[in-house]
Amino acid sequence: MLSDEFRFKLLVKLGSLIFKQYPFKWSQLDWLRNPWFRSYLEKFGEERGFNKERRWILRELMRLVEMVPGDTAECGAFEGAGSYLICHANAANCNFNRVHHVFDSFEGLSTPAAVDGAYWHKGDMSRGEEIVRKNLTEFSAYELHKGWIPERFDDVKEKHFAFVHIDVDLYQPTLDSMNFFYQRMNPGGIIVCDDYGFTTCPGATRAVNETLRNKPEKMIALPDGGGFLIKGISASSRGALDT
Ligand SMILES: C[S@@+](CC[C@H](N)C(=O)[O-])C[C@H]1O[C@@H](n2cnc3c(N)ncnc32)[C@H](O)[C@@H]1O
Repeated sequence: MLSDEFRFKLLVKLGSLIFKQYPFKWSQLDWLRNPWFRSYLEKFGEERGFNKERRWILRELMRLVEMVPGDTAECGAFEGAGSYLICHANAANCNFNRVHHVFDSFEGLSTPAAVDGAYWHKGDMSRGEEIVRKNLTEFSAYELHKGWIPERFDDVKEKHFAFVHIDVDLYQPTLDSMNFFYQRMNPGGIIVCDDYGFTTCPGATRAVNETLRNKPEKMIALPDGGGFLIKGISASSRGALDT
């Protein structure tokens, strides 16, 4: 029987013959074996997918806002996997009765602009509202706001937020989401942009950087894609990703 260590080394050797720059990672990680997290991945068919790291960091960042008042929101839900993690953390939090607000066209992406490059097309990532409702059945404290961003933002214009997950892939809806939610975040609240730093989402990265140009907070880019900021915590712009 070959040891895991030997098989990993072999995988890296073979893999680098096929894809020289592919960034292999350690597999001896506790979080990959977390039973709750594994069943969550299974629920959304992501056991062998490439979103695991960003799912895990979303779960961890929700822990950081446990004592921050305010609602939560997701811009761009697809099948509701991100919203599931947020609702799960909200339901376990005894400090606040948060409501989670989900914004989605349920018709996929809007029309990409030139700044978005050639990867995305109108209508990509389209999923029906009923799929999100089905995946969130175990939770009651959420509201779906169906429509093109920013049309339905008025529904929550009087609210303040502890956590917002922006995941709409393109420049304009990312810009609209950042502009709307940044000013409504409570101190210590977190904004995550799932698309930040992906070469397939240059418009989203640009929209975030433009919004934060004159703000003390900057996006902290994560190694597996995406980034986050903490409202009220300034960060250096030196070394930030730019487009
Ligand atoms: C990448 S998926 C979201 C993935 C999801 N956050 C997750 O964690 O699995 C992008 C979503 O954004 C929605 N979307 C993109 N552009 C939009 C816009 N301008 N207005 C409303 N929804 C939009 C799409 O319908 C799609 O559901």
